[in-house]
Amino acid sequence: MKLTYYGHSCFGIETNGVHLLFDPFISGNPLASHIDVNSVPADFILISHGHQDHVLDVEVIAKRTGAKLISNFEVINWFAAKGFENGHSMNHGGGYDFDFGRVQYVNAVHSSSMPDGSYGGNPGGFVVTPKGSSSSFYYAGDTALTYDMKFIGDQNDIAFALLPIGDNYTMGIDDAVRCAEFVGTNKIVGLHYNTFPPIQTDLDRASRTFSQSGKDLILLEIGQIRDMNF
Ligand code: NI
Ligand code: MN
Repeated sequence: MKLTYYGHSCFGIETNGVHLLFDPFISGNPLASHIDVNSVPADFILISHGHQDHVLDVEVIAKRTGAKLISNFEVINWFAAKGFENGHSMNHGGGYDFDFGRVQYVNAVHSSSMPDGSYGGNPGGFVVTPKGSSSSFYYAGDTALTYDMKFIGDQNDIAFALLPIGDNYTMGIDDAVRCAEFVGTNKIVGLHYNTFPPIQTDLDRASRTFSQSGKDLILLEIGQIRDMNF
C-alpha cells in the first residue's frame, strides 16, 4: 500500500490498484505550491468534514477524475446540489463494503460547517479495511482525543493511524500519542500541522514524544510517497 502526502491533512492511498484521496486541500496551501492539483489521482475522495481546509479541491479533482465522494450525509448532499452527484453518504458508526474494501465512518469531536456557512453534518474519521486484509488503517480527521477511540482499537487491528498533531484546532502531540495507544498502533503519520500560524508545531518534540512512548511518528515531505508495508 502506497501513501502519498499532499500537505495539511490531504493524502492519497493506493490499494489494490484503487486511488483513495482524503481531504483535498492543496491549491490553498502555500506549503504545497509544488503540487499540481491536476495531476493528483483519485477514484474515491473521502471527506472527513466540511471545513474549507478539507474540501477546497474536491470539486476540481472530482470534475477531472469522476471520483466518487464518500462523506457524511450533509457533505454529500452539499456537493450533490452543486452537480456532483456521484456520492456515497454515510453516518457515524456505519460501515460499507466498497469494491476496494470496507469503510467505516467514525466519531470525531470537532465541528463541520461548509465553506459557504451551511450545515456540514457532524465531523468524522474513517477506518478503512482493504479487501482481503484483516488489518485496517485509521484516519482521525480533525478531532480532539476521545475515549471513543478505544472502541476503534477494540474492534479493529489498526496497522497505522493518520492523526492530527498540530494542536489548537485538534489534538496536539501528547493527545495524539494517547490516541495511538487507544487505537492500538505504534505507527503514526502526522497531519494538520504547520499549515497556518496557530498550528505551527515543534516537530523535534513531536518525534521525541512519540519515540519515548515506543511509537514511530512518520512525518512526510509534501509530495513524498511512502510504502506503508501493508
Ligand atoms: Ni476542521
Ligand atoms: Mn482542519
